[in-house]
Amino acid sequence: MKWFMLLAVASAVGLASCDSNYNHYRLPTAIRPQKYQLSILTLMEHPQESTFNGTMKILIEVLENTRNITLHSKDLTIDESQTTLSQVNGSQKQDNCVSSTAVNPNHDYYILNTCQELLAGNVYELTMSFSADLNAQLEGYYRSSYEDPEANETRWITITQFEPASARLAFPCFDEPNYKAPFVVTLGHHKKYNALSNMPVKKTKPHESLPDYVWTEFEESVPMSTYLVAYSINDFSHKPSTLSNGALFRTWARPNAIDQCVYASEFGPKVLQFYEELFGIKFPLPKMDQIAVPDFFAGAMENWGLVTYRESALLFSPEHSALDDKQHTAEVLAHELAHQWFGNLVTMKWWTDLWLNEGFATYVATLGLAHVHPEWRSLDKESVSNLLTLFRKDSLESSHPISRPIQLVSEIFENFDAIAYEKGSSVIRMMHLFLGEEAFRSGLKSYLQMYKYKNAEQDNLWESLTQAAHKNGALPKDFDIKTIMDSWTLQTGYPVIDVTRDYAAGSAELTQERYLLNTEVSRSHNGGCWWVPLSYTTQSKLDFNNTSPEDWLECNKDGQRLPKKIGNLPGADQWVIFNTKLSAPYKVNYDAKNWKLLIRTLNSKDFESIHLVNRAQLIDDVLYFAWTGEQDYETALGVIEYLHRERELLPWRVALDNLKLLNRIIRQTPKYGSFKRFIKKLITPIYEDLNGINDTFSTIQEKDQILLKTTVGTWACGYQASDCVPRAVEYFRKWQTDPNPDENNPVPIDIRNIVYCTAIEHGSDNDWEFLWSRYLKANVASEKLTILDALSCSQEVWLLQRLLEMTFDPKGDIRKQDSAWVFTSVAANEVGFLLAKKYFMDNVESIYKFYHPLPKVFSRLLPPLYEQIFNRIDYNEFKDFVANSRDSFKGLEQATQQALEIMLTNVQWNERNYANFSSAIREFH
Ligand code: BES
Ligand code: ZN
Repeated sequence: MKWFMLLAVASAVGLASCDSNYNHYRLPTAIRPQKYQLSILTLMEHPQESTFNGTMKILIEVLENTRNITLHSKDLTIDESQTTLSQVNGSQKQDNCVSSTAVNPNHDYYILNTCQELLAGNVYELTMSFSADLNAQLEGYYRSSYEDPEANETRWITITQFEPASARLAFPCFDEPNYKAPFVVTLGHHKKYNALSNMPVKKTKPHESLPDYVWTEFEESVPMSTYLVAYSINDFSHKPSTLSNGALFRTWARPNAIDQCVYASEFGPKVLQFYEELFGIKFPLPKMDQIAVPDFFAGAMENWGLVTYRESALLFSPEHSALDDKQHTAEVLAHELAHQWFGNLVTMKWWTDLWLNEGFATYVATLGLAHVHPEWRSLDKESVSNLLTLFRKDSLESSHPISRPIQLVSEIFENFDAIAYEKGSSVIRMMHLFLGEEAFRSGLKSYLQMYKYKNAEQDNLWESLTQAAHKNGALPKDFDIKTIMDSWTLQTGYPVIDVTRDYAAGSAELTQERYLLNTEVSRSHNGGCWWVPLSYTTQSKLDFNNTSPEDWLECNKDGQRLPKKIGNLPGADQWVIFNTKLSAPYKVNYDAKNWKLLIRTLNSKDFESIHLVNRAQLIDDVLYFAWTGEQDYETALGVIEYLHRERELLPWRVALDNLKLLNRIIRQTPKYGSFKRFIKKLITPIYEDLNGINDTFSTIQEKDQILLKTTVGTWACGYQASDCVPRAVEYFRKWQTDPNPDENNPVPIDIRNIVYCTAIEHGSDNDWEFLWSRYLKANVASEKLTILDALSCSQEVWLLQRLLEMTFDPKGDIRKQDSAWVFTSVAANEVGFLLAKKYFMDNVESIYKFYHPLPKVFSRLLPPLYEQIFNRIDYNEFKDFVANSRDSFKGLEQATQQALEIMLTNVQWNERNYANFSSAIREFH
């Protein structure tokens, strides 16, 4: 064996010998990893200089002769004197070594040129030693901290966050999802800590030289992608539960929060078991850990066998968290545990098909949630909320197809958006509904069986589903899933279907075009054809539960739309509704007469004969059409008018979400007075009927009635309707006068957000300070977020300005992970908006640095700004600002384009609809 020594210690970034000219964004395919053995020693006794160092042994299989090994490594110091390369198979082993190394920082490549050619069919073992600082950047292998109140000390833990491309920050590896290999992880750490990783502990032994240090070795994992590897060193406590097969299931949190793990430790195993049955494949690992990390950039991460969460997503306190928080926890757990199959067992080939991971996890989570908590009636709520998100985001010209080319790491990050999640899940739901239960399930099962421990792309899924559908008779033999689904996943946008009825003939002509919010773009010019499943019902049939298509809108081979005429429709006195239960992502516009018939039923005591999801659909569609000018606001408000009878959450939510966008614009104009009167008139009857915020909620059986009450209460207090403000202030005073407010809180949990915000809005500096003190003392993450949100309700410029500054202070009391949340709340406040906008524009460079290297978090600051810009001067100012601050928007091209387009659509609304809307609300009674 020859030894190559470049420098005793060379930085892989700075000192390696030369730049490589290999500049493709994907790794060369001549070799692939067979197995990783990773040892990491973590030194965090002195938090100021905490570091880790490691050794990586990779078995590499050679597929084609090559003279180099190219892999990923970023910000690691590689000790090249320790690098070795040897052949491990065959009897005639040839010596080998590394002759030189190079880096390509464009793609984080570290390239080892070999002394001898690596020969196809051979297996080599590459060993590398490396070290790095434990960073505080919330990605790679990083550290997080919490305060131990008893000892009054800061405690440190370590954790990983690798998806999508940060394993390379922790060890050299082939950091692409298609390179699956088993991992053997060994962690060196002080013996006072727990060590966790994807697999159970195999053995522990003392460190050879460091006193009180041990090596914890974990069992070899199943083959997995690098982005799913995880490990942690911590002093947390855990709550055990078991799975039906006896496997261990543990929920981890800082010791002082362990009592908040009860709900997650019960829900997790239940939903995991549901998935085992749904997919027909057992959870393949011998254990599952879930851990609440105090500093975490995403909501949660599905690492195989060691799922990580931010505290507010995993922990639940019956004394401090609202029903909303509990549902959020359930939703996030259901999502991450669904990934254990969709994502972990079967992984997308490349980030282009990220939606196969995220869309599936999002959709399957809705099924898991409905199974474990039928009393929440969440299936409709979840699917409608996914649809509403996609209807907004995908109506922008700057949107993109679900499946799209991805090259740069920043593009991978941008791909984690509403299109992958909400549109992805909505098109899967559409398939589920048009295929029916059996064909859908058996298609999924065979897809998972066929690609388990491997990678797949969307065509593989189409194939499995087509086979199952044909076998089962769920799809005509001349239809295939690929043709239908490609029209939804390879094309941007979704259609609006125009239904023009011939009342005498009992028929209707249907046409489709892409729905666009931006009315300066020609829709017909935009083209597009979608395969649209047409389910519908009529005023006499009222068959809303039948979601299987009666017919299809089809496209020809060149993707051109084919005309469609539907017969057997009822007479002139009856309405029709297309897209029962919103079973597919499209909007429907009718002729004036059909709308009139619908409005008549909605405004009668029979309004419930229309399914509640379709009531929500009618509200959402008509408000969009009024926005883009296909309908006038008289018609739209005629639809909303029926709400005074409505007692279901969903239609109310949809209506109020739409009105919120209008509110953001109108409240800065002279017409706000009439808008306020309009909202008060809409809200007061239901607020009073639900007994306002007066009772303690404990007697309410129907869970979504609690959510309806809080939704309505938020608007009632915001608009000072009925007794909302005085009642809220009264609750707050009662809390304030309690001698021990950190122990006793008389405010009902589910209205704390309303009460705190209202009291701060109408209160004094002292009230603000009182609540801030509670923030500092709070031990429950969701309570902390509720308080932060409320602190931004102040009308005092100086308090809001101070809050903004505290938000971006890296050493302050607000964690970086929560900063976007606070900024958003301040900017949503009418006094805070101008402050937030100015703060953002004045400090954009330092904010960019604050979030570096996670521009995705930075992009969360944009929505509250663009939602409130609606005149051309401000729009142009923002456009120029973006153009002049290009460096600060690097990696955010998609987000800024969308922001600008939304501002433009606001400007269009203002120029076109302001007058019509203002007069329409005046007439509303
Ligand atoms: N795989 C993601 C986590 C992630 C997001 C990694 C973005 C890298 C970039 C995880 O499964 C996820 O989707 N988390 C969501 C929460 C979920 C309930 C929708 C999140 O973090 O927002
Ligand atoms: Zn996910």
